[in-house]
Parts: sequence; C-alpha cells; structure tokens
Amino acid sequence: MTQASRRDVLGWLGGAALGGLLVGIGGVAAKPGEGLAAKRPLMEKAIPAAWIPRRLDAVECAPLAYAGYWRDGLGCCYGVFESIIGSMGRKHGAPYNQFPFTMMEVGKSGISEWGTICGALLGAASAFALFWGRKERDPMVTELFRWYEQTAFPIFDPGQNALGVAGTLPAHACGSVLCHISVSAWCYATGTDAASAQRQERCSRITADVAIKAIEILNAKVDNGFAPRLKSMSEEGCLPCHAKGKASPVLKGRMDCAPCHGGSVHNQDKFRNHP
Ligand code: HEC
Ligand code: HEC
Repeated sequence: MTQASRRDVLGWLGGAALGGLLVGIGGVAAKPGEGLAAKRPLMEKAIPAAWIPRRLDAVECAPLAYAGYWRDGLGCCYGVFESIIGSMGRKHGAPYNQFPFTMMEVGKSGISEWGTICGALLGAASAFALFWGRKERDPMVTELFRWYEQTAFPIFDPGQNALGVAGTLPAHACGSVLCHISVSAWCYATGTDAASAQRQERCSRITADVAIKAIEILNAKVDNGFAPRLKSMSEEGCLPCHAKGKASPVLKGRMDCAPCHGGSVHNQDKFRNHP
C-alpha cells in the first residue's frame, strides 16, 4: 500500500467514526469549514451516510413485504427485511439503498431449508441490528418473537392482489418461532400440504404480518416509546428452576417450552407430568 492510499484509508476511517457521530446528532453531515472537519480535509469526501433508524408506515410496507416474498422466490426473510430497509432507501436513499438485499434469501425456509428460525423473524431482527446493538435490540427482538409465538397466523389478506392463492386462509397459533413448528403445526392443524400453494400463501401473508409488528416496534423505539410487555407462560412456570444459578442450570434460549415439552401427543409432557 502506498503512503497516499494509506492516508486515504486512515482519513476514511476517522471520517467514518466522526461522521457517524455528527450525523447521529443533527441528522446532517458537518459542512466544510466547520469545526473539527475543517482541520481534516481528507475526510470531507469520504464521510459515509449514517445508519440512522427512520420511522416507517406499516400500511405502506405490509404489501411490499408480501410481494417481496414472491419476488423471484426470495422468500420471507428478504420480504420483511426489504420492506423495512428498502422502504427507508426509497425515501432517504443511501445508505439504506446500498444494502445487497438479495443476500437475505438465506433465511427462507428457516435458513437454507433447515426449518430453524422463521425467516420473517430473522429478517426483522437483522433490520433492527443495523441500528441497535445487543443491549438495545434484545428486548425488541423478544417482544417480536413472543408476539409471534402467541399469534394466530395469517392475519394479512392481500385481497385482489393475491400472488399465490386468493381468499381467506385458516389461522392457527403455533406457539413457536421455529419455521419447522410454525409450518408443520399449521399444515397439520389445517390439513394442508407443506409444499402446496396454500402454505406458500400463508407464509407470504405472515411475512406482511411480521413486517407490520416489526415496524410498530421500530417506530416506538425511534420515538423513545418502546416498552416490552409480552411474557410466556414458561417464564413463570419453568424459569424459576431452569435458569443460571437455579436447580437446573442447563437451559439455553428464551423460546417458550410448551411446544416441545408441553405434552401434545407428539412430545413429552412437562407441564402436567413433570418428574
Ligand atoms: C421446582 C423446580 C422446577 C420447575 C418449576 C420446573 N422444572 Fe423442569 N426440572 C427441574 C430439575 C431440577 C430437573 C432435573 C434436570 C437438571 O438437573 O438439570 C428438571 C428437568 C427437566 C427436563 C429434562 C429432564 C426430564 O426429566 O425430561 C425438562 C425437559 C424440564 N425439566 C422441563 C420443564 C418445563 C417445561 C417446566 C415448566 C412447565 C419445568 N421443567 C419446570 C426443576 C424444575
Ligand atoms: C423447539 C423445541 C424445544 C423448546 C422450545 C425447548 N426445548 Fe428443551 N429440549 C428440547 C429437545 C429436543 C431436547 C433434547 C432432548 C433429548 O436429549 O432427548 C431438550 C432438552 C432440554 C433439557 C435437558 C434435558 C434433556 O432431556 O436433554 C432441559 C432441562 C430442557 N430442555 C428444558 C427446557 C425448558 C425449561 C424450555 C423452555 C424455557 C425448553 N426446554 C424449550 C426441545 C425444546
């Protein structure tokens, strides 16, 4: 690396840190000739636009999330993420519109068809993570995930703009943030084939549902009005013993225990039949 290009890089790094700070406070970048910026001419041209969270209109974004699911088969994770960050980009340009959105396809079908986390939730959590670190973000993610565990889906109805199957779909609360449980329990409860157009339509509508809830949380956070409120039954019933420093300190994670240890005919019963 030459001296000049090394200086450019250093100038850019300084600018990135300082630019983030200045933009974060006032919402506008420092102008040439002002304060600290005047002493460091190299950084002027290189101040990157800052990742500031912006309020969004959920009514506008929900159909975009729904349509995003169907775009080239990119799926739920892309649909939610693009409806949030892409909408910021359509209104405010950079840096939001610079994101390589199609990489979010990875979350589809619970990450590369594995049925782990519901990709719609991964898309929302990833959007939060662009603006907030772990301490701020965890309660936002927890509120969204708890809501997902407890809600009967789908709610959103695209009406005449349906891209898969039009009309009302049966709703079912699956109790879990996992794609496997969410999809399979809904399919079992409604007698639907997991590879069918109905199931895809359900997931595309949930993509809109998750975008709406995520935007509600994001807007509240931007307005300093976010306060988590949802709890699971297991938090009261199971965590007093299953937690760090308690009788059973082996537990990892915050998922509600009920779908897996709740004693349906498909699994063991720890709610009524605990040893
Ligand atoms: C009064 C304390 C207490 C409460 C409340 C409690 N557990 Fe446990 N549980 C234990 C202890 C102690 C073990 C033994 C495992 C260990 O030592 O880590 C255990 C074991 C388990 C195991 C694994 C072992 C097995 O026998 O299958 C599961 C699964 C489990 N509990 C689930 C739950 C769930 C779900 C709830 C809430 C509905 C719950 N527990 C509530 C204390 C408790
Ligand atoms: C997505 C399903 C799922 C959820 C949700 C879940 N568990 Fe489990 N849990 C499992 C599975 C599967 C195992 C491994 C069971 C085995 O080894 O046969 C396990 C293991 C455990 C163990 C260790 C004992 C053992 O049998 O291996 C404990 C204790 C436990 N779970 C408690 C809980 C509690 C308490 C919650 C809720 C806070 C919870 N789990 C949520 C599926 C789940």
